[in-house]
Amino acid sequence: MDENAVAKTLGRMNDGLASFFWDALTAVSVNGVSGDYVEFGSWGCNTLRHAYETCRAFRAERHLWAFDSFQALPPSDEPRDQHPGLGSALGQGGVEAFHASCAGFGVPRDAYTAVEGYYADTLPPLGSEGEPRDIAIAYIDCNLYSSTVTVLEFLAPRLKPGMIVGFDDYFLWSPDTGVSGEHAALSEFLDAHPEWHFHRFKDIHWGGVAFVVERAESGVPHRPL
Ligand SMILES: C[S@@+](CC[C@H](N)C(=O)[O-])C[C@H]1O[C@@H](n2cnc3c(N)ncnc32)[C@H](O)[C@@H]1O
Repeated sequence: MDENAVAKTLGRMNDGLASFFWDALTAVSVNGVSGDYVEFGSWGCNTLRHAYETCRAFRAERHLWAFDSFQALPPSDEPRDQHPGLGSALGQGGVEAFHASCAGFGVPRDAYTAVEGYYADTLPPLGSEGEPRDIAIAYIDCNLYSSTVTVLEFLAPRLKPGMIVGFDDYFLWSPDTGVSGEHAALSEFLDAHPEWHFHRFKDIHWGGVAFVVERAESGVPHRPL
């Protein structure tokens, strides 16, 4: 892509993120949905700082959680993880570089907890009761099908009506495999968990979509994702 087009796209994505976080925080506040903000894929702190700035504007007391290896995407042979746009540099630098990025954005150290490591190592040990237990907004920005599968398994016992789940890479579509990894992971998850509906809430930007969690027993028919 032409560099001016890249800059314009990044600007449009940031506008979309700002609008998403504002509307998501409005929705959980108006609807009385308790809980923290939890993010899967945090590296450069751009999404976390949007979450922080919006919480601050709302004077919302919601702790922020950042789950990331801070060491790049995990190696994977899974065909649904393959994508021409994903480089191994994503996420490198370690957790100290992340803290430095957060400080650069003005996100104070006590506003967030960074959980360092691959999800396969950090999430299953938390089980269904480990912190964070009460979640209002989850943001999944981990690019890969396999990572999203692990994240959704972690979220399953924490889902509740009115909670918002955003997928940053929903339309990160591979022409080689014909698969959008995050979309595929969500579709399989909902097949395995018919007790939950994900009701479309907002498009975040060109690649991202957010959903509101509903109980299937509410009787409202589920729409295609
Ligand atoms: C696009 S980057 C996140 C960007 C971030 N939201 C921001 O605003 O700067 C994707 C991140 O997901 C992380 N990630 C993907 N799969 C992971 C896994 N299985 N375990 C830990 N981190 C993972 C990578 O380390 C990388 O930092």
